[in-house]
Amino acid sequence: MGRIAALRCPQCGWEAVTDDTFACGSCGSVLEVQMDLTHLTRSDVRVIRASTDQTLWRWFDFFPVKSRGSVVSLGEGYTPLTRCRRLGRHLGMERLYVKNDTLLPTGSLKDRSNAVGISRAVELGFDTVAVLSTGNAAASVAAYAAAAGLRSVVMVPAATDMAKVIQACASGAEVVMVDGSLDEIGPFYREAVREFGWYDCLSTNPYRNEGKKSYAFELFDQFDEHVPHWIIHPTAGGAGLAAMWKGYQELHGLGWAHRFPRLVAAQSEAAAPIAAALENGNATVEPVAAGATVAESIRVGNPSALGQRALRAVRASNGTGVALADDEILEAQSLLSRMAGVFAEPSGAVSLAAAIRLRGQGVIAAADMVVCNVTGHGLKQAASVGVPPEHLQIVEPDLDSLRKRLETTAPTEASANPESEGQP
Ligand SMILES: Cc1ncc(COP(=O)(O)O)c(C=O)c1O
Repeated sequence: MGRIAALRCPQCGWEAVTDDTFACGSCGSVLEVQMDLTHLTRSDVRVIRASTDQTLWRWFDFFPVKSRGSVVSLGEGYTPLTRCRRLGRHLGMERLYVKNDTLLPTGSLKDRSNAVGISRAVELGFDTVAVLSTGNAAASVAAYAAAAGLRSVVMVPAATDMAKVIQACASGAEVVMVDGSLDEIGPFYREAVREFGWYDCLSTNPYRNEGKKSYAFELFDQFDEHVPHWIIHPTAGGAGLAAMWKGYQELHGLGWAHRFPRLVAAQSEAAAPIAAALENGNATVEPVAAGATVAESIRVGNPSALGQRALRAVRASNGTGVALADDEILEAQSLLSRMAGVFAEPSGAVSLAAAIRLRGQGVIAAADMVVCNVTGHGLKQAASVGVPPEHLQIVEPDLDSLRKRLETTAPTEASANPESEGQP
């Protein structure tokens, strides 16, 4: 049984008395779940690692869900951790790994959060769940709500890629498209949640925020209890970084992990408040007006309290932040496809773009063990990849036509000489 010790405010220490309280009653910040892990001993890590459960629920004791019977699972977690030898050689990184979250049930990292968040909604007895999203969380909340038999209302900016809107609609969500960016729509969404009493699946929900701790647990397991030097995460609101850090803290507190990774906040330069705070040595994350970017899923200029926690986590880890231009992001997306076989949406490839920048600056050393979380599938924003016009020309079904055509579409240097990719 997942043992919740408290719902506490990390800002001021205030503690909730009911388990459906999400915001601090004193300072208004997002509460954090404190798990009681005191029953776990060294032998439990062996039991967990020997389990045949291929989902993040292998780490059930670490998540704030009281009963296994409440778990809503689509098989999330334990995505491949792939050592990208060919891509790593190309980039001068001997130990480059991709944590391939494009393969999560709805194609993005949001399933880590919503598996936990929606399971808890079931326990708390809600019948309607809601989210405001750049698209991935909408599709994910819709799918988990469908599996749980709950109603879902998902709000997205009107400019959201249709693939994500269709994905949410297909699961039966009530999709509400609203004019404006995610930051602009925020106050309206919060008003609607208050008015209708919906279960909120945003990062203002402490239960759902625990889900991305699973990165720490899976990496710890998949690396045979070793901890990589760097974990680079495409960052929007900061939930992933804050949760990963909390996960490693829990493993460390139990004496299971012996060191911490250095965390990197990888953001689009069009919306990089966390990277800017790190770069400028600021104590707080200052909101920015988000500009246009191909990395639409991480276009968040005004993160919640989780942004502040992410800043603290990255600092505590001796990590850093990187703000990437669209051409760097698209180049990383292309390299991932052509040299590692991983098709990511632009936002999901921002981690690799940051790795390339940091390696170029010598911040990451050639021998460092580097994990890039690749967080969203390419099919979610497929139009971000152009198809060369010669590939669209229709070929007559004869070998001469085919030969002629292949001469015009010979592979580029990067996609030639295939070499095998492998597991760690
Ligand atoms: C594809 C993708 N990557 C990364 C993120 C980062 O989210 P966070 O900073 O909340 O972990 C998001 C969500 O907004 C996303 O959709």
